[in-house]
Amino acid sequence: MKNVIAIDGPGGAGKSTIAKLLAKKINYLHLDTGAMYRAVTWAALKKNIDFKDEEKIIKIAEKSKIIFDQQGNIFLNGKNISQEIRNNKVNQYVSQVAAIKGVRDLLVEKQQDIAKKNKVVMDGRDITTVVLPKAEYKFYLTASLAERAKRRYQQEKVKNKNADLKQIKASIARRDKLDKEREHSPLKKAEDARLIDTTNLSIEQVMSKMIEIIEGEI
Ligand code: DC
Repeated sequence: MKNVIAIDGPGGAGKSTIAKLLAKKINYLHLDTGAMYRAVTWAALKKNIDFKDEEKIIKIAEKSKIIFDQQGNIFLNGKNISQEIRNNKVNQYVSQVAAIKGVRDLLVEKQQDIAKKNKVVMDGRDITTVVLPKAEYKFYLTASLAERAKRRYQQEKVKNKNADLKQIKASIARRDKLDKEREHSPLKKAEDARLIDTTNLSIEQVMSKMIEIIEGEI
């Protein structure tokens, strides 16, 4: 599939940051699919829905009109929720929501539709394996748990001076486990995706590795 770059990997591996920069550099749209699962989770929290009630959560997903603007802000039924979807409550429940097949089916359809209509860099957990297995370029970005926790802690510290590294590490490990062990579309590396371990690499270094691979062809 031409004009489509798919990136997967665990949380904190740098996917979204890299995908955003890469998209800007090559003038593609960036789609952060994790933000879509977060938006549905945020809506369910707003409505005080029991997270065990999958039918209700699927209904919420059906009613969620999710739109991104040029800057990557995310709007749910007209409301900009770009900040809200990063809060701790959403962190806590999003993997549960992302494990629901009915929710995934709805969001995957939207993601595939966007890829049909745009040149896109899409990042998530199942993009290279399920959403766009025929993408022209496929990458799997990863990093050690300690490094990923450190990166999230540094981001978090700016907003919250009580941020706790140990807690962040435990929360990432918990989500890794849920994402990798779930029944539907678990996180795994596609055989033909290029593996980049970003543990000891700067954002610029990761970017240049990727550009090297796709250079000359766009
Ligand atoms: O990348 P993130 O932390 O914003 O992702 C939030 C959650 O959504 C995480 O538990 C993984 C899940 N997710 C998914 O299952 N499939 C995707 N394509 C993207 C994210």
